[in-house]
Parts: sequence; structure tokens; C-alpha cells
Amino acid sequence: MRIGIIGAGTIGKAIFSYVRSSGVAEVDYLLVSDAKKARDFDTGGSLILDDADAALARKADLVIEAAMAENVRTMAPAALQHSDFCAFSCTALADPATEAAILAASAASGRSFYVPHGAVLALDGIRDGRDLIDSVVITTTKSGKSLGLPEDSEGVVFDGSTRHVCARFPRNVNVHAAIALAGIGFDRTTSRVIAQPGLKDNIHRIEIAGQGFTWGIDAASQSLGGVTGAYTPLSAIGSVRRILDRRGIVFA
Ligand SMILES: NC(=O)c1ccc[n+]([C@@H]2O[C@H](COP(=O)([O-])OP(=O)(O)OC[C@H]3O[C@@H](n4cnc5c(N)ncnc54)[C@H](O)[C@@H]3O)[C@@H](O)[C@H]2O)c1
Repeated sequence: MRIGIIGAGTIGKAIFSYVRSSGVAEVDYLLVSDAKKARDFDTGGSLILDDADAALARKADLVIEAAMAENVRTMAPAALQHSDFCAFSCTALADPATEAAILAASAASGRSFYVPHGAVLALDGIRDGRDLIDSVVITTTKSGKSLGLPEDSEGVVFDGSTRHVCARFPRNVNVHAAIALAGIGFDRTTSRVIAQPGLKDNIHRIEIAGQGFTWGIDAASQSLGGVTGAYTPLSAIGSVRRILDRRGIVFA
């Protein structure tokens, strides 16, 4: 099994280290924006690439994106011709043309497009219940700095559909996109974003009402400095393990 990893930031590095140390698969390449800054990762050979076309030409068995939504838009449809694809930047699918291209490529090749649960929990249960779900409201509270806004930003900075919030805050609302994809879609899911000065945590509150049930999911994770919280690298490794290694107890 050969794996290509896109992005050597918080999540990409965690996945790279896990795959290399566990030996569960072979890292075929690590695609970075600047190869000169990524020499620490290389062990000789041609592991580090900074050319997306060269990466795609390697036709890895599984490509894992941990960079930007733009990488999903530009690379996933082509990669899916030969590879499974796992996207942490799933806000990319709020663009209807990108979602359609991904679905068409997957249908044509029979390859899978994986949406990892990332910073949130319970995508499986939401997916199973989606035909009976009436409403989903997701509220994310972060510091202005984490949202790419002035540090003193305060209060509601977005209230609308998940489709629109993905365009406004693509790096911060992957939780919203994953829940919309699992549940009732980008247009019927409501997103709110609140800025709170000095907040160290990324806080997500998900309220779901269905026919005969209500669910509340609270997920707070200390920011690691960028857009990602303390839990997500571990969650990312768990998702990669479930894709690659199905021995032992498998949660379904
Ligand atoms: N699904 C979730 O719940 C969830 C949670 C946290 C983060 N994310 C998303 O996952 C992605 C990665 O998160 P992170 O914390 O590791 O981000 P990060 O900022 O730490 O790392 C991203 C890396 O991608 C690199 N990059 C940018 N453009 C590139 C390109 N064209 N080719 C190759 N590399 C490129 C950057 O140089 C950087 O090293 C982000 O889009 C983030 O929004 C998703």
C-alpha cells in the first residue's frame, strides 16, 4: 500500500509520523508547498515533492489531503482515477462543481472519497439518521485570530447556510462541512460563527432535531496555534488506521 500525503502542517506531520513509525503502509510522497523547507522529513530518495502533477503521476493507492480546500478542488478528481482520497479540508465540497467532479470520478473508477471525522464526533450516527433529521444548527466559537479576523473581533460574525460559511471561513469550518455531508446537506444545515477575543479553545456546538429524537454534541479542543485543535491529529491518525488496517476490533 503506497500513500501520498498532501501538506506537512499539524495534521500532515502527524499522519506522516504515524505511517512511517507503524509501517502500516509506505509513504510514497509528501507534497509540500516549498520542498526546501521540508528537508527534515526526507530520508533520501524522492519523498518530498512540490509539484502536484508529479505527485498525481505516482498513482499512490491512497492520497491523504491535509493542506487547503484548494488542493481538494484541484487534485481529488484526478487522483480518484487511480487512488482513494481522504480530505481533511472537506469545505471544498461546498462548491457544487467540486462535489460533482469528485462523485463522477469516484463513480467512474470505483475509488472511495473518505471524509474523516476530524475535530467532531458521531458522523456515523448522523449519516445513519439523516432521513429522519429535520434541522441541524452548528455554532463554532473561536478567537478572531484563529478565524483570520482582527484579534479583538467579538460576537456573531456569520449566521447562515453551511454552504456559504464554507466559502467565508474555509479553513475553520471543516466540522460544519463534514456534518452537512453526513447529514442533510450544505443548504439545509445552519452555521453560526462567533468570535471571542483571547479564546484558546475551538468550540463546536451541534444541535440536531429529528423525527422522534434530539441530539446535542459539544466538542471543544485547545487550539494548537493554527486552525487545528489538540484532539484532531489523534483523530486523523485514527481515521487513517481505520482506512488502512482493519485487523482486530473494528468499529462499524
Ligand atoms: N476536518 C476537520 O475537522 C479539520 C480539523 C482541523 C483542520 N482541518 C483542515 O485540515 C487542513 C490541514 O490542517 P493543519 O492544521 O494541518 O493545517 P496547517 O496550516 O498546519 O498545515 C497546512 C499545510 O499545507 C501546506 N500547503 C498549503 N498549500 C499547499 C499546496 N498547494 N501543496 C502542498 N502543501 C500546501 C502549508 O504549507 C502547510 O504546511 C486545513 O485545511 C484545515 O482547515 C480539518
